Amino acid sequence: MMKAWTWTHGGYPEALQKSTLPSTTGLLKPPQIRVRTRASSINPVDVQLMSYPLISHLPAFLVPPHKGVGEDFSGIVEEAGPDSGFKISDEVLGIAPFLPGGTLQETTKIDTKVSAVVRKPADWSWEQAAALPLVWLTARTTIARAESRVKSGKIVILGGSSSCGMYAVYLAKQRGWTVKASCSGRNADFVRSTGADDIIDYTTTHVPEQVKAFAPDAIIDFVGGT
Ligand SMILES: NC(=O)c1ccc[n+]([C@@H]2O[C@H](COP(=O)([O-])OP(=O)(O)OC[C@H]3O[C@@H](n4cnc5c(N)ncnc54)[C@H](OP(=O)(O)O)[C@@H]3O)[C@@H](O)[C@H]2O)c1
Repeated sequence: MMKAWTWTHGGYPEALQKSTLPSTTGLLKPPQIRVRTRASSINPVDVQLMSYPLISHLPAFLVPPHKGVGEDFSGIVEEAGPDSGFKISDEVLGIAPFLPGGTLQETTKIDTKVSAVVRKPADWSWEQAAALPLVWLTARTTIARAESRVKSGKIVILGGSSSCGMYAVYLAKQRGWTVKASCSGRNADFVRSTGADDIIDYTTTHVPEQVKAFAPDAIIDFVGGT
Protein backbone atom coordinates (compact mmCIF):
# COMPACT_ATOMS: atom_id res chain seq x y z
CA MET A 1 0.00 0.00 0.00
CA MET A 2 1.11 3.61 -0.48
CA LYS A 3 0.13 7.01 0.82
CA ALA A 4 -1.63 9.27 -1.70
CA TRP A 5 -3.71 12.40 -1.91
CA THR A 6 -6.99 11.61 -3.71
CA TRP A 7 -10.47 12.99 -4.24
CA THR A 8 -13.84 11.37 -4.79
CA HIS A 9 -16.32 14.24 -4.94
CA GLY A 10 -16.85 17.87 -4.02
CA GLY A 11 -14.81 20.99 -4.73
CA TYR A 12 -11.31 22.07 -3.82
CA PRO A 13 -10.00 22.14 -1.09
CA GLU A 14 -12.60 20.07 0.83
CA ALA A 15 -12.32 17.32 -1.78
CA LEU A 16 -8.68 16.56 -0.93
CA GLN A 17 -8.32 13.34 1.05
CA LYS A 18 -5.27 11.68 2.57
CA SER A 19 -5.68 8.08 1.44
CA THR A 20 -3.98 4.75 1.33
CA LEU A 21 -4.07 3.12 -2.10
CA PRO A 22 -2.77 -0.15 -3.48
CA SER A 23 0.80 0.57 -4.52
CA THR A 24 1.73 0.72 -8.19
CA THR A 25 3.87 -2.41 -7.97
CA GLY A 26 3.19 -5.08 -10.56
CA LEU A 27 4.39 -6.02 -13.99
CA LEU A 28 5.35 -3.03 -16.14
CA LYS A 29 4.51 -2.85 -19.83
CA PRO A 30 7.61 -2.31 -22.04
CA PRO A 31 7.26 1.51 -22.33
CA GLN A 32 6.36 2.03 -18.65
CA ILE A 33 8.47 3.22 -15.74
CA ARG A 34 7.74 3.31 -12.03
CA VAL A 35 8.83 6.55 -10.41
CA ARG A 36 9.32 7.21 -6.69
CA THR A 37 7.94 10.72 -6.32
CA ARG A 38 10.24 13.36 -4.86
CA ALA A 39 8.05 16.37 -5.68
CA SER A 40 4.70 17.00 -7.33
CA SER A 41 3.08 20.30 -8.28
CA ILE A 42 -0.54 21.35 -8.31
CA ASN A 43 -1.95 23.39 -11.18
CA PRO A 44 -5.20 25.32 -11.71
CA VAL A 45 -6.51 22.36 -13.70
CA ASP A 46 -6.35 20.18 -10.57
CA VAL A 47 -8.59 22.60 -8.73
CA GLN A 48 -10.89 22.83 -11.76
CA LEU A 49 -11.15 19.03 -12.09
CA MET A 50 -12.12 18.66 -8.43
CA SER A 51 -14.77 21.31 -8.79
CA TYR A 52 -16.22 20.00 -12.06
CA PRO A 53 -19.44 18.16 -11.08
CA LEU A 54 -19.63 15.79 -14.06
CA ILE A 55 -16.40 13.94 -13.30
CA SER A 56 -17.54 12.44 -10.00
CA HIS A 57 -20.48 10.87 -11.90
CA LEU A 58 -18.35 9.15 -14.54
CA PRO A 59 -18.45 5.33 -14.38
CA ALA A 60 -15.64 3.59 -12.51
CA PHE A 61 -14.32 1.90 -15.66
CA LEU A 62 -13.46 5.38 -17.00
CA VAL A 63 -12.09 6.89 -13.78
CA PRO A 64 -11.67 5.17 -10.39
CA PRO A 65 -13.71 6.46 -7.43
CA HIS A 66 -10.48 7.64 -5.74
CA LYS A 67 -8.97 9.91 -8.36
CA GLY A 68 -5.37 10.98 -8.01
CA VAL A 69 -4.17 14.55 -7.56
CA GLY A 70 -1.55 16.19 -9.75
CA GLU A 71 0.10 15.49 -13.10
CA ASP A 72 3.52 17.09 -12.75
CA PHE A 73 6.21 15.13 -10.96
CA SER A 74 9.89 14.70 -10.38
CA GLY A 75 11.41 11.57 -8.96
CA ILE A 76 13.66 8.56 -9.27
CA VAL A 77 13.03 5.65 -11.62
CA GLU A 78 12.59 2.53 -9.49
CA GLU A 79 11.80 0.17 -12.30
CA ALA A 80 11.96 0.57 -16.07
CA GLY A 81 10.33 -1.34 -18.92
CA PRO A 82 12.70 -2.40 -21.72
CA ASP A 83 11.24 0.11 -24.25
CA SER A 84 10.98 3.05 -21.85
CA GLY A 85 14.33 4.65 -22.66
CA PHE A 86 15.10 4.90 -18.92
CA LYS A 87 16.92 2.82 -16.34
CA ILE A 88 16.73 2.32 -12.59
CA SER A 89 18.03 5.34 -10.60
CA ASP A 90 17.47 7.84 -13.44
CA GLU A 91 16.33 11.19 -12.07
CA VAL A 92 13.37 12.38 -14.13
CA LEU A 93 10.65 15.01 -14.43
CA GLY A 94 7.46 14.82 -16.39
CA ILE A 95 3.72 14.97 -16.67
CA ALA A 96 1.17 12.16 -16.34
CA PRO A 97 -2.33 12.17 -17.92
CA PHE A 98 -5.01 14.29 -16.19
CA LEU A 99 -7.42 11.45 -15.46
CA PRO A 100 -7.21 9.41 -13.34
CA GLY A 101 -4.17 11.56 -12.51
CA GLY A 102 -2.07 11.09 -9.44
CA THR A 103 1.47 12.23 -8.85
CA LEU A 104 0.91 13.45 -5.29
CA GLN A 105 1.55 9.91 -4.12
CA GLU A 106 4.52 7.79 -3.16
CA THR A 107 5.02 6.09 -6.53
CA THR A 108 3.54 6.57 -10.00
CA LYS A 109 3.45 4.26 -12.99
CA ILE A 110 4.13 6.30 -16.12
CA ASP A 111 3.72 5.23 -19.73
CA THR A 112 6.58 6.99 -21.51
CA LYS A 113 4.79 6.72 -24.87
CA VAL A 114 1.77 8.79 -23.75
CA SER A 115 3.42 11.02 -21.13
CA ALA A 116 6.22 13.54 -21.45
CA VAL A 117 9.20 12.38 -19.35
CA VAL A 118 12.76 13.71 -19.51
CA ARG A 119 15.89 13.44 -17.39
CA LYS A 120 16.18 16.02 -14.63
CA PRO A 121 19.12 18.41 -15.01
CA ALA A 122 21.48 17.61 -12.13
CA ASP A 123 21.54 21.17 -10.80
CA TRP A 124 17.74 21.52 -10.52
CA SER A 125 16.04 20.80 -7.20
CA TRP A 126 13.21 18.27 -7.13
CA GLU A 127 10.76 21.10 -6.53
CA GLN A 128 12.04 23.17 -9.45
CA ALA A 129 11.79 20.14 -11.72
CA ALA A 130 8.22 19.28 -10.67
CA ALA A 131 7.11 22.90 -11.12
CA LEU A 132 8.02 22.96 -14.81
CA PRO A 133 6.14 20.46 -17.03
CA LEU A 134 2.56 21.69 -17.46
CA VAL A 135 3.29 25.41 -17.32
CA TRP A 136 6.21 25.06 -19.75
CA LEU A 137 4.23 22.89 -22.16
CA THR A 138 1.27 25.30 -21.97
CA ALA A 139 3.51 28.27 -22.75
CA ARG A 140 5.31 26.40 -25.53
CA THR A 141 2.08 25.20 -27.16
CA THR A 142 0.55 28.67 -27.01
CA ILE A 143 3.62 30.36 -28.46
CA ALA A 144 3.75 27.74 -31.23
CA ARG A 145 0.12 28.51 -32.11
CA ALA A 146 0.83 32.24 -32.15
CA GLU A 147 3.69 31.81 -34.61
CA SER A 148 1.52 31.92 -37.74
CA ARG A 149 -0.12 35.16 -36.55
CA VAL A 150 2.96 37.10 -35.50
CA LYS A 151 3.89 38.78 -38.79
CA SER A 152 5.39 42.08 -37.64
CA GLY A 153 6.96 40.47 -34.56
CA LYS A 154 4.86 42.20 -31.93
CA ILE A 155 3.06 40.28 -29.20
CA VAL A 156 1.29 41.14 -25.95
CA ILE A 157 1.37 38.67 -23.09
CA LEU A 158 -1.22 39.44 -20.44
CA GLY A 159 -0.13 38.00 -17.10
CA GLY A 160 3.60 38.14 -17.85
CA SER A 161 4.46 37.25 -14.24
CA SER A 162 2.16 34.23 -14.03
CA SER A 163 3.61 30.73 -14.09
CA CYS A 164 2.79 30.23 -17.79
CA GLY A 165 3.27 33.89 -18.70
CA MET A 166 6.91 34.07 -17.66
CA TYR A 167 7.82 31.15 -19.94
CA ALA A 168 5.73 32.63 -22.75
CA VAL A 169 7.72 35.87 -22.50
CA TYR A 170 10.96 33.90 -22.57
CA LEU A 171 9.89 31.81 -25.59
CA ALA A 172 8.61 34.87 -27.47
CA LYS A 173 11.98 36.57 -27.00
CA GLN A 174 13.75 33.41 -28.22
CA ARG A 175 11.87 33.98 -31.50
CA GLY A 176 13.04 37.57 -31.64
CA TRP A 177 9.60 39.10 -31.07
CA THR A 178 8.98 42.42 -29.37
CA VAL A 179 7.08 41.63 -26.17
CA LYS A 180 4.85 43.87 -24.12
CA ALA A 181 3.67 42.11 -20.96
CA SER A 182 1.19 43.06 -18.27
CA CYS A 183 1.90 42.48 -14.59
CA SER A 184 1.71 44.41 -11.35
CA GLY A 185 4.42 46.98 -10.63
CA ARG A 186 6.07 44.78 -7.98
CA ASN A 187 6.87 42.20 -10.67
CA ALA A 188 7.97 44.64 -13.39
CA ASP A 189 11.70 44.01 -12.87
CA PHE A 190 11.17 40.26 -12.79
CA VAL A 191 9.18 40.27 -16.06
CA ARG A 192 11.80 42.49 -17.71
CA SER A 193 14.44 40.01 -16.54
CA THR A 194 12.63 37.24 -18.45
CA GLY A 195 13.06 39.36 -21.59
CA ALA A 196 9.97 41.59 -21.91
CA ASP A 197 10.70 44.81 -23.80
CA ASP A 198 7.99 46.79 -22.06
CA ILE A 199 5.61 46.40 -19.14
CA ILE A 200 1.97 47.36 -18.65
CA ASP A 201 1.25 47.72 -14.93
CA TYR A 202 -2.36 46.53 -14.86
CA THR A 203 -2.88 47.97 -11.38
CA THR A 204 -2.21 51.58 -12.43
CA THR A 205 -2.89 51.83 -16.16
CA HIS A 206 -5.67 51.12 -18.63
CA VAL A 207 -4.55 47.87 -20.25
CA PRO A 208 -6.77 47.94 -23.40
CA GLU A 209 -5.56 51.44 -24.31
CA GLN A 210 -1.92 50.41 -23.99
CA VAL A 211 -2.49 47.24 -25.99
CA LYS A 212 -4.27 49.14 -28.79
CA ALA A 213 -1.48 51.71 -28.98
CA PHE A 214 1.11 48.92 -29.33
CA ALA A 215 -0.94 47.22 -32.11
CA PRO A 216 0.34 43.67 -31.62
CA ASP A 217 -0.15 40.81 -34.06
CA ALA A 218 -1.37 38.58 -31.24
CA ILE A 219 -2.38 38.73 -27.58
CA ILE A 220 -1.89 35.78 -25.26
CA ASP A 221 -3.97 35.80 -22.07
CA PHE A 222 -2.06 34.19 -19.21
CA VAL A 223 -3.75 36.17 -16.45
CA GLY A 224 -3.76 33.88 -13.44
CA GLY A 225 -5.24 33.67 -10.00
CA THR A 226 -8.81 32.91 -9.05
N1 LIG B 1 -0.68 26.62 -14.77
C1 LIG B 1 -0.92 25.81 -15.79
O1 LIG B 1 -0.31 24.74 -15.91
C2 LIG B 1 -1.94 26.18 -16.84
C3 LIG B 1 -2.22 25.28 -17.85
C4 LIG B 1 -3.16 25.63 -18.84
C5 LIG B 1 -3.80 26.84 -18.76
N2 LIG B 1 -3.52 27.69 -17.73
C6 LIG B 1 -4.22 28.97 -17.68
O2 LIG B 1 -3.27 30.01 -17.86
C7 LIG B 1 -3.64 31.12 -17.07
C8 LIG B 1 -2.48 31.46 -16.13
O3 LIG B 1 -2.29 30.37 -15.22
P1 LIG B 1 -1.02 30.32 -14.28
O4 LIG B 1 -1.07 29.05 -13.51
O5 LIG B 1 0.18 30.62 -15.08
O6 LIG B 1 -1.35 31.55 -13.33
P2 LIG B 1 -0.71 31.96 -11.91
O7 LIG B 1 0.70 31.53 -11.82
O8 LIG B 1 -1.65 31.58 -10.83
O9 LIG B 1 -0.76 33.56 -12.09
C9 LIG B 1 -0.83 34.41 -11.03
C10 LIG B 1 -0.49 35.79 -11.53
O10 LIG B 1 -1.48 36.31 -12.41
C11 LIG B 1 -1.28 37.71 -12.45
N3 LIG B 1 -2.49 38.48 -12.66
C12 LIG B 1 -3.64 38.45 -11.94
N4 LIG B 1 -4.53 39.34 -12.45
C13 LIG B 1 -3.91 39.94 -13.50
C14 LIG B 1 -4.30 40.93 -14.43
N5 LIG B 1 -5.52 41.50 -14.39
N6 LIG B 1 -3.42 41.28 -15.41
C15 LIG B 1 -2.19 40.73 -15.49
N7 LIG B 1 -1.75 39.79 -14.61
C16 LIG B 1 -2.60 39.40 -13.64
C17 LIG B 1 -0.70 38.10 -11.11
O11 LIG B 1 0.46 38.85 -11.42
P3 LIG B 1 1.08 39.95 -10.44
O12 LIG B 1 1.58 39.17 -9.26
O13 LIG B 1 2.17 40.57 -11.25
O14 LIG B 1 -0.03 40.87 -10.07
C18 LIG B 1 -0.43 36.77 -10.42
O15 LIG B 1 0.84 36.72 -9.76
C19 LIG B 1 -4.93 30.75 -16.33
O16 LIG B 1 -6.02 31.19 -17.11
C20 LIG B 1 -4.88 29.22 -16.32
O17 LIG B 1 -6.17 28.65 -16.25
C21 LIG B 1 -2.60 27.40 -16.78
